[in-house]
Amino acid sequence: MLNTTAWNRVRYGLYAPVYDLVAERAFREARRRAVAQVDWRPGMRVLLVGAGTGLDLPWLPRDIELHATDLSPAMVRRLERRAESLGRDVQAEVMDAERLDYPDDHFDVVVMHLILAVMPDPARGLAEARRVLKGDGQLCVMDKFQADARPASLPRRGLNALTSAIATDITRQARPLLCEAGFVIEQDTPVMMGTLFRALLARPG
Ligand SMILES: C[S@@+](CC[C@H](N)C(=O)[O-])C[C@H]1O[C@@H](n2cnc3c(N)ncnc32)[C@H](O)[C@@H]1O
Repeated sequence: MLNTTAWNRVRYGLYAPVYDLVAERAFREARRRAVAQVDWRPGMRVLLVGAGTGLDLPWLPRDIELHATDLSPAMVRRLERRAESLGRDVQAEVMDAERLDYPDDHFDVVVMHLILAVMPDPARGLAEARRVLKGDGQLCVMDKFQADARPASLPRRGLNALTSAIATDITRQARPLLCEAGFVIEQDTPVMMGTLFRALLARPG
C-alpha cells in the first residue's frame, strides 16, 4: 500500500496549488458544523493538525491563540498567506502529526480535519493529539469514515488500495480509533454525503 508520510509530503506539495479549488466550497458547511460543536472560550490555545491551506481559519473565533501545523511546506506557505489576508495571527510550522513538537497538556482544542483518513498511522496521530491536549481539552474531528457497526467490505478494501495512495483511506472507523486512543466521544454528527463524513467532538477520557 502506497500511503507513507514521505509520499504524503510529496503529493500534498503537488496538490497545494489546486487544493482550494477542490476543497474550499465542498467542505465549507461540514467545516462550519464541526467547528460549531466546540465549546469555545476566549483565550483558548488551539492547534490545527494537518491544517493544509488554512481553510478552517475563517470559521474559528478570533479571540484565541492559534497554532497550525502541516507536513507540507507548500501547504504551510499558503496557510500563512491566508492568515495574513484574513488579518489573523497564526503560529504556523511544518511538522509531522505523528511527532508533534509541543509539550504535554498544552492545548485547549486540537482540530483534525481531513487528516485522520490521510495519515498512515492515525492511532499515532491521535496519541499525539491526546498528549498535547489538556485534561479538559477538546478534540474536533471532521473526516470520512467507514460505519462503526461493520468493518469495510472486501470490495471497499480493494478500492482503498487506490484511494489511499492518491487521496484518502476509505476504511477507517472513527469510534474504535478515538476510543482506543483514550477519547470519549461527546458529539458525532453526519455532516456530508449521508453518514460518510462525520464531525466528532471528543475529550480525553
Ligand atoms: C486532505 S488535506 C486536509 C487539510 C485541512 N485540514 C483541511 O481541512 O482542508 C490533508 C492534509 O494533511 C497533511 N498531512 C498529511 N500527512 C500528515 C502528517 N503526517 N502530518 C501533518 N500533516 C499531514 C497534508 O499535507 C494535507 O495538507
